[in-house]
Amino acid sequence: MSVKKGEISALVGPSGSGKSTVLRALVGLTPITGGNIEIAGQTIDYRSARSVRAARDTMAIVFQQYNLFQNMTVMGNVTFAPIKIKRRPVAEVEAQAKKLLDLVGLGDKHGAYPDQLSGGQQQRVAIARALALEPKILLLDEVTSALDPELVTEVLDTIRRLAGEGMTMILVSHEMAFVREVANQVVFMDRGEIIESGTPREIFDNPKTDRAQDFFSKILRH
Ligand SMILES: Nc1ncnc2c1ncn2[C@@H]1O[C@H](COP(=O)(O)OP(=O)(O)OP(=O)(O)O)[C@@H](O)[C@H]1O
Ligand SMILES: [Mg+2]
Repeated sequence: MSVKKGEISALVGPSGSGKSTVLRALVGLTPITGGNIEIAGQTIDYRSARSVRAARDTMAIVFQQYNLFQNMTVMGNVTFAPIKIKRRPVAEVEAQAKKLLDLVGLGDKHGAYPDQLSGGQQQRVAIARALALEPKILLLDEVTSALDPELVTEVLDTIRRLAGEGMTMILVSHEMAFVREVANQVVFMDRGEIIESGTPREIFDNPKTDRAQDFFSKILRH
């Protein structure tokens, strides 16, 4: 699989097919036992803590369960890692956080605590928090799956906006209509393997393999 700068690659496939594993392997959360990963021509050496750290610095991952710090405001959540871990200047980080919160449509929620926000709003804070780390690649693992249907749209709008800004993304999603609309590349996985990949049209309308045909005929029917 290869991901182009500024493009959205979507991983789709049955439960347990390994979609999350790909994202977790990328950031070093799941050990890799074979093959290799290159970012911008550099092979990541997952045995070297330094190499993994450098790779991690280029990526940020957002999960289905947004896991905000409940005891911190929205602003605190977004600025915590850049200030405390990256040791960047507070004023600069806060100015950037304001811009990011505007970008995700939460410009008026700086002072709110997570439990005062809807699930969709919390997920958008989680996306802003990931973006505050200035990743070159954003990894999104089913970020709308835990949300009520009416809150899904606002999160998808945020992803659309990021796509418009040229953010490189790898997206795991069950929102097939959305994937069809925004993805440049769709990668179909089954039982731990990439079965086929191509444009949304190629994969959804004209899957070549039986396994992809079978999967899409089941999920696109309802
Ligand atoms: N290529 C692989 N090598 C080793 N283990 C794998 C591989 N693919 C999947 N697994 C294992 O299979 C299990 C399920 O994989 P994973 O969580 O990545 O699936 P998923 O596609 O994200 O499923 P879901 O849609 O339910 O989230 C995990 O325990 C994972 O470690
Ligand atoms: Mg998963």
